[in-house]
Amino acid sequence: MAVKYDDKKKIWVLETKSTAYSFGIHPSGKIKNTYWGKRISRFEDYPAFEGYFESPWWDWNDEYPVRGGANQTEPCLQVVYEDEVRDVQLNYKSFEATEQSLTIHLEDEHYQLLVSLHYQIFENEDLITKYVTLENCSYSDIHVENFKTGSFYLQPTDDYFLTHLTGMWAHETKIVKEPICDGKKVFESRVGRTSHFHNPFFAIDEKATEDTGNVWFGLLAWSSNWKTVVHKLPYENIQICTGLNEWDFNYALKQGEKLASPSVLFAFTDCGFGDMSRRLHDYERNYILPKQNAQKVRKVLYNSWEATAFNVTEENQRILADKAADIGVEIFVVDDGWFGQRSSDKAGLGDWVVNEQKFPNGLESLIEYVNSKGMDFGLWVEPEMVNPDSDLYRNHSNWILHFPNRPRTESRNQLILNLAREDVKEFVYNTVDGLLSRYNIRFIKWDMNRPIFEAGWPFEGNQRKMWMDYVTNFYDIWQRLKEKHPKVIMESCAGGGGRIDLGIMRYADQFWTSDNTDPYDRQFIQEGFSLCYVPKTMMCWVTDWAGKDTYPLQYRFHAAMMGSLGIGSDLSKYTEEELEETKKWIAFYKRIRETVQNGSLYRLISPREKPFTVNQYISNDKNEVVLFCLKNPEPLSMFKVLKVRLKGLDEHMVYEIQGSGKSYSGSYLMNRGLDVDFMQKHTVKVEKGNHFDSRVFVLKKRK
Ligand code: GLA
Repeated sequence: MAVKYDDKKKIWVLETKSTAYSFGIHPSGKIKNTYWGKRISRFEDYPAFEGYFESPWWDWNDEYPVRGGANQTEPCLQVVYEDEVRDVQLNYKSFEATEQSLTIHLEDEHYQLLVSLHYQIFENEDLITKYVTLENCSYSDIHVENFKTGSFYLQPTDDYFLTHLTGMWAHETKIVKEPICDGKKVFESRVGRTSHFHNPFFAIDEKATEDTGNVWFGLLAWSSNWKTVVHKLPYENIQICTGLNEWDFNYALKQGEKLASPSVLFAFTDCGFGDMSRRLHDYERNYILPKQNAQKVRKVLYNSWEATAFNVTEENQRILADKAADIGVEIFVVDDGWFGQRSSDKAGLGDWVVNEQKFPNGLESLIEYVNSKGMDFGLWVEPEMVNPDSDLYRNHSNWILHFPNRPRTESRNQLILNLAREDVKEFVYNTVDGLLSRYNIRFIKWDMNRPIFEAGWPFEGNQRKMWMDYVTNFYDIWQRLKEKHPKVIMESCAGGGGRIDLGIMRYADQFWTSDNTDPYDRQFIQEGFSLCYVPKTMMCWVTDWAGKDTYPLQYRFHAAMMGSLGIGSDLSKYTEEELEETKKWIAFYKRIRETVQNGSLYRLISPREKPFTVNQYISNDKNEVVLFCLKNPEPLSMFKVLKVRLKGLDEHMVYEIQGSGKSYSGSYLMNRGLDVDFMQKHTVKVEKGNHFDSRVFVLKKRK
């Protein structure tokens, strides 16, 4: 059984394959955490509260810390009761358990606030999720000022490091690892989307590597304001508190009303960051991604944004579609610029009707053409937004989030519709549903190009609930669209990677990873992405972002093939030779994509540590291995032979390297390693004598 309760010790233990998480009823009546780490072989050894007097650590680790009593840790819950009492006292009430789940009910008896902690175990994926519900059982409103999901604790040691993902537009998901120092480290979003600056992920390790060492990690499933605090407490134990951001948060919980928090996924591994990522990837494929497409491979798409920008016309899209079909593309996507008076980012946003000058025969004509070439058709939308210069704004200026008497920030010349309003929600749903119902569209790229600032909701009493309702309405729209149009692939984009998280992944099949498509920069962005999110959701385009000569085409393809492949180049400018090469690589990708997208990723060499990226993917049946080796600038490296030791193979089996006539035992490949020859051939010289080069190998297990 995975959820166990020890009646004598009054502790619950949640056990997965290798992890245990435990808490119990402290003599004070509070629920306190007692353990998080590797599963302990003898059940009776799980710690409880005997001896807690000797250990000051026990005084800190409330399983659900609140503003109230003598708590000095970061609180998960802050409320104001009707008589202005702000002190919460939660006592244990009861529990409900199944083999895989546990709910603990806590109560502030005097004010009749019920707090329930819900845990779910994923035994095979070795993960646990938690979310919290509040229920107002009293006769008056309770104002919730802070409502986080989880507070986790690690015992004192000297050696904890924090890893998190940080960045900015065009440089998302940068991996940062730093020692945990005294005080608090905060990372968060306050802009109504997951954020380019930080991603709701944390990992705490004790000098772990890709393959070894203890890592405690968590991911919050939320696409708007969130906050994580890593707090080194006075006794050197660590608290990690994560959930909704209390910044500008205030939710009036009416009598009888319930409120659910986002869920946090958390787990422990003693096998390093590689194991952490593989578990997350499996979990996402098996439990989070929309069912219809979760196990299917993503098609190769073409997107015309970098080629034609806002200047899309039926004519130029047909030319690109011809080329795209010839090279083997499977989905042809028209990006921004197809609607209203949209010839730049200054006008038209919100007017989701086809621009007749650009498409005199309607969108149908282009779609039929694309379909006749054997490709699906896809479309870009940004339905939460509006340009002041648009009919939508002229008709519904009251739909905008803003404060009266204050200036409004017009980021990218656009304003934000208040999706928390029911009429706006229906407008957004009907807009996209209308497009999907009318046209044969099989792919939607849903953008959100600006952050939310100045989130006023004029004439609404409880304005700040907007932060919650915006997101729940947003999820509701995606859910309804998914149900009604299950064959449509949905991509979440927010000016690149500003909305990448497990919350939207329940409805989004994939993400636009970053607007930066430079293949060198991408290796860093993609490595960070792969830490938490499964590579099949990571859209990677081959483009001419840095010009055609900076990087070999092969290198650009190899960088993009490590996720789901797309093409964003201006194909009308490609020579016959370039088109032939492009076609060859797309055909190659189709042969390996099952392994890349549904297999297991081993990050063998990180571009952060060496001037190489080496990533290995093993198919689910373990019969195929795909190895990408990218060589980046390094002085004096013209004659480089890189040794690569593979991982996760069967040591007694023989693997044939396709196209080389060579074969080696798994044990040779994992111990002696493969020589990857970077002598000359595809090397392109750029300024300063730097070199970018790449190789890819496919290995098949001999039967
Ligand atoms: C955002 C996206 C781009 C593109 C443009 C269109 O920046 O990230 O890929 O769709 O919007 O305006």
